[in-house]
Amino acid sequence: MKKKLLAGLLSAAAAALFINVNAEEAGQAISEEDWKLYEEGINPGEVFAEEVGGSLFEKPMGPKKLSCASCHVKDGDVEDRVATAAAYYPKYDKDAKTVINLEQRIQICQSKHQKVKPFSLKSEENTALTTYLYYLAQGTKINVDTTSPIAKKFHDYGRYVFTLKRGKRNLSCQVCHEFAVGKVLRMQWLKPLGFEYNGVKGTTAADHWPAFRMTKNKVQTLQQRFQGCMKQSKQKVLPLGSEEMVALELYVKALSNGAELKTPGLRR
Ligand code: HEC
Ligand code: HEC
Repeated sequence: MKKKLLAGLLSAAAAALFINVNAEEAGQAISEEDWKLYEEGINPGEVFAEEVGGSLFEKPMGPKKLSCASCHVKDGDVEDRVATAAAYYPKYDKDAKTVINLEQRIQICQSKHQKVKPFSLKSEENTALTTYLYYLAQGTKINVDTTSPIAKKFHDYGRYVFTLKRGKRNLSCQVCHEFAVGKVLRMQWLKPLGFEYNGVKGTTAADHWPAFRMTKNKVQTLQQRFQGCMKQSKQKVLPLGSEEMVALELYVKALSNGAELKTPGLRR
């Protein structure tokens, strides 16, 4: 269903670019012109957010046939705190009694309020709803709490996970995203994840995830992007929604505090 939709909407030029993207995986670079074309064209991530995520948001479910919209749309608009929520997660949640991310808050509303079995964190449906909420929050400044006692605990733990060397190659996130910034690895620049590190300009990574990944042909969340880096650096992949992942997400997202969400992004 989604594939058909995207195929229908992608221009021939964009479709041709997918071929280049596959070539890129084999080691070639995407040219500046190709990037421009892509960026001026349709971002399939926005289509996914609106069409797949937006429909799920409005779909009645469970014994009382409630949709997310039944509770969160007021006078035709998604209520502000839900439409901007993406900028503030991960954060402490009263229902979970701990710090959780937006994906997990969606699951709580599904089980507690819609009374249905929540979509798993790996599912396309959870990613679609998450991407829809990030899409609604476009332009909102990221403002993740790092100072309340529990948020600080998660922030410190996130920094610890970031610096922890793991796996066969004894690598940590820090090795590539701090110590080696400005260097090139497999034809890709290693960049800081926040505004800058040691004078090297960063990408404020958290302001454009979830993103549509051209090499994967689908939208991935920030935690799924982390998993990609873990796989590539031969670390055991941490599960989505684990305390370690939420802490890492909070830490990395806080590095972009103050940056406006440009979600969903479009990445290689
Ligand atoms: C029966 C009503 C109901 C339904 C249906 C419902 N929610 Fe909620 N939702 C709530 C309530 C109540 C809260 C506030 C919990 C609290 O006190 O913080 C909430 C909180 C949230 C928040 C957090 C807002 C914040 O300020 O942090 C998000 C995001 C959210 N809901 C999304 C959804 C999504 C997505 C769906 C559909 C999958 C959904 N909700 C379905 C009632 C509902
Ligand atoms: C072996 C080096 C290496 C390690 C280790 C590594 N990464 Fe990466 N990471 C990269 C490269 C290369 C990219 C692609 C650069 C780009 O997208 O601009 C990347 C991209 C990312 C991005 C997307 C950046 C953006 O602006 O979109 C995030 C987020 C990220 N890494 C987080 C992590 C985290 C968290 C860890 C630790 C679990 C980690 N990385 C470990 C090399 C690494």
